[in-house]
Amino acid sequence: MTANTDPDVVDLLTTDHHEVLHLLDEIKESGDPERRRELADAVIGELVRHSVAEEMFVYPAMRKHLPDGDEAVEHDVAEHKELEQLMKRWEGVDAATPDFDRVLAELEEVLRDHVQDEESEQFPKLRAAIPARQLVDMAGEVEAAKRVAPTRPHPLAPNNALFHFAVGPGVGLVDRLRDAWTGRPNKTDAG
Ligand SMILES: [Fe+2]
Ligand SMILES: [Fe+2]
Repeated sequence: MTANTDPDVVDLLTTDHHEVLHLLDEIKESGDPERRRELADAVIGELVRHSVAEEMFVYPAMRKHLPDGDEAVEHDVAEHKELEQLMKRWEGVDAATPDFDRVLAELEEVLRDHVQDEESEQFPKLRAAIPARQLVDMAGEVEAAKRVAPTRPHPLAPNNALFHFAVGPGVGLVDRLRDAWTGRPNKTDAG
């Protein structure tokens, strides 16, 4: 948390990470294929929205403020795509088969490594470089972006293009995000 009580973007993204990792643990502990499928779908939706929001509003700030920002972002985006490929596979696998657990294990390995890089390297550098108030504003942007982001993995398409496709073309992005933020109806999935 920052000096004030509002959660900042790092708090928000870190909570997301831990929620998803917790869901993975729940899947491993469950013996009920139906429940495992349901939790896997929750992981997929949450992780795609998280990745798209990061790419829209957090990675550009990393490029700008971190000395090794470009390199870090390219590495992170490649890992997001790797995660999406695994999630795409995972969507089509029967939760009662060993294949489901194989994909789960691979996904968890890539995700833990990715989360570790963000939380121990990149997020602390962002907090050091960006004023606290701005980090709190970024949390609002990420929240709003998550509400309109796609929820299905599209491993072959760039996430910023998918985001614009989901939100709608052209100008008005800020208004659309504000609508999402205030809970007015919006399109939530590019499919
Ligand atoms: Fe993240
Ligand atoms: Fe990420």
